[in-house]
Amino acid sequence: MTLSLVEEQVVKSRDRVKAYGEVFTPKHMVEQMLDLVAEDLETGPDFVDKTFLEPSAGDGNFLVAILRRKLAAIERRFPADEWRNESLFALASIYGIELLEDNHEDAKANLLAEFVGFHQAHGTPADPGTGLHRAAEFLIGTNIVRGNTLTAQTPEGEGIQFSWWHRVEGQPGVVQREPFTLASLRDDAGFDFTVYATYEPCPIDEVHEQGGSDA
Ligand SMILES: C[S@@+](CC[C@H](N)C(=O)[O-])C[C@H]1O[C@@H](n2cnc3c(N)ncnc32)[C@H](O)[C@@H]1O
Repeated sequence: MTLSLVEEQVVKSRDRVKAYGEVFTPKHMVEQMLDLVAEDLETGPDFVDKTFLEPSAGDGNFLVAILRRKLAAIERRFPADEWRNESLFALASIYGIELLEDNHEDAKANLLAEFVGFHQAHGTPADPGTGLHRAAEFLIGTNIVRGNTLTAQTPEGEGIQFSWWHRVEGQPGVVQREPFTLASLRDDAGFDFTVYATYEPCPIDEVHEQGGSDA
């Protein structure tokens, strides 16, 4: 039998429900909702790079389920020697915003645990200190942001900034990072890439060496 609603904690406290609308979506509903976008997640062309943004990330339940599906599809559809880089590109496609500090920390930790678990299950070293772990932690720290989606600001009152991770054509495994603000997504002009310095292209498993994350 699958986990029942009684066993699954969907509410932490009444106060938090009242103040932040914090009611977590049960796992079976998360899966049903993701079934609706299975083509983008798992079966369609370029599924690895299909972008997902969870504007009220909670503890990362949707983010983790998205990553799990992408990783399973990578395992089915790519040769094993490409899993390392493709799994990092999958992480780079997943974005989240969360208001509360504890939920934000949980979301990042749960995402990292899912990523590490995938690689460890295949015998790939992914312990802290490995390049793979550090690159994954960096991408998660950059993409999963603490802030208020409605105001597009961080707790410090700065504009929430994300980065787009472009694959560099003709150079497998190489990425180029381009920062943009959340606010710019709501402007008619779209992404404000040009406002910020662009990073040099680099192998995605060395992306943490360029710095610049809030991780
Ligand atoms: C209803 S819970 C949903 C969590 C998760 N998305 C789910 O479906 O299980 C809402 C979450 O959004 C966060 N939240 C509330 N207002 C927010 C805001 N303005 N910006 C970002 N996150 C917010 C809360 O802290 C809480 O973790």
